Order: sequence, then structure tokens, then C-alpha cells
Amino acid sequence: MKKPVIAIDGYSSTGKSSISKVIADQLGLIHLDTGALYRGVTWFALQNCKGENGSIDLNQLFSSLDQIQLEFKNDDGELILYLNQQDISKEIRTNEVSDNVSLVAKQKEVRDFLLQSQRSLAEKGGIIMDGRDIGTVVLPDADFKFFLTASIDERTKRRYHELLSLGIEANEQQVKENLIERDKIDSEREIAPLKKAEDAIVIDNTYLSKQETIEAILAYIQKI
Ligand code: C5P
Repeated sequence: MKKPVIAIDGYSSTGKSSISKVIADQLGLIHLDTGALYRGVTWFALQNCKGENGSIDLNQLFSSLDQIQLEFKNDDGELILYLNQQDISKEIRTNEVSDNVSLVAKQKEVRDFLLQSQRSLAEKGGIIMDGRDIGTVVLPDADFKFFLTASIDERTKRRYHELLSLGIEANEQQVKENLIERDKIDSEREIAPLKKAEDAIVIDNTYLSKQETIEAILAYIQKI
């Protein structure tokens, strides 16, 4: 039997990636955290494409996209992201990347650059991909689509503790503002905005643990 293709979209810090990783392990699927790819491009831009005022020079980024090679490697169950052979897994979680990623991700050039590699990974089936536009744009024919949401206060708490556990300094109010700002840019952008696919199952996990969210998704998949 062909293994399923599963799309998990939703708001920032609803646990999409960590939940997808567990489901991938349980069902023997590949997991692709597409947010990490957008973060990787943003990290590259912050290192190599800064304009005079210190912000990202988008035109310089567009003409440098062919110098970016992003690759995931599995290290003992952990997905490690490499940019041109350099491990950038920690760097992509910094506040500087979080503050700039939505601006980079709304650019057509950047989305086109990442779209093909995401699609080709799914061709053989057996994949769970998480992001913002997976069920609507990247894999509209996915076998299962889920859309995760949770209250902003709960999501703030989760991201704040995630940053602390990564050893990254964090301020709860700033984390909350970043989530609100990113969700706004992601939802309002012209190309591939963050939105629920018509045929996606919505899961509000404000009051669900990570394990309960996983069980809800698996129950749905196993019922079909
Ligand atoms: O999932 P994560 O929070 O790491 O994603 C970081 C950012 O990458 C999002 O806020 C969004 O701007 C962008 N993104 C996107 N499309 C995806 C995944 C992420 O635009 N499929």
C-alpha cells in the first residue's frame, strides 16, 4: 500500500513540527519542516544580503538564491538543517531570524525557489509536511490535511519555553508580538497565504497536550 501524504498547516507555535516529527516516526514517514527552509533562506540573507540601513536587501537576495543549497540530514532522530554544508539548526531559531522570516517568505521569488523541492520530495508518498500553505498550494492533493490553531497566550507560552530550552534569550511580550506580527503578514500576503484548506480538519489544541494532539490526528488517519 502506498504510504500517505499528510499536510499540517496552522498558526505559529501550534506545535506543527514537533507533532509531525512524532507522527512521522510512528507511521514510518519522512518529515519536512518547511518553516525551517524559509528560516534558512532568511539566515542566508541576514549573513550575505544586508543593505546599507542594516535590513535585508531583497534584490540582492533574489539574485543570490542560486547560491543557496538547503539540505536536511537525520542525526539520531533529530533533523539537522544544513546551508551549503554548514549546520544552521540553532541559528534559524534566533530572534533575528524570527523577526525577518515573514518578510522574506512573502516574496514570490523565494516561494518559487522553495516550491519545487518541496513538491518533488512528496512525489513518492510517505511524507508529512508542515507549514502554512501545504494543504492549499504545495500539496493540494494530500491524502490528509490538518489545520492547527491555539490561543495566542498558549502559543506565546510554548514558544517562550522552546526558546529558553534552546538557550536563546527571550522576553515573553516580545515573543507574543512576534507571533502576532508573523501571523498577520503570513495571513495577509498575496501569494500562498496562511489559511485553512477547504478540506482540512481543524484542531484547536489550546487545551490539548502535544500527545493528545498527536492522538487526535492519528485517530482521524486510522479511521479512514
Ligand atoms: O513554522 P515556522 O514558525 O518555523 O515558520 C517560520 C515562517 O516561515 C512563518 O512565519 C512563515 O512566514 C514562513 N513559512 C511560510 N510557508 C510555509 C512555512 C513557513 O511562509 N509553508
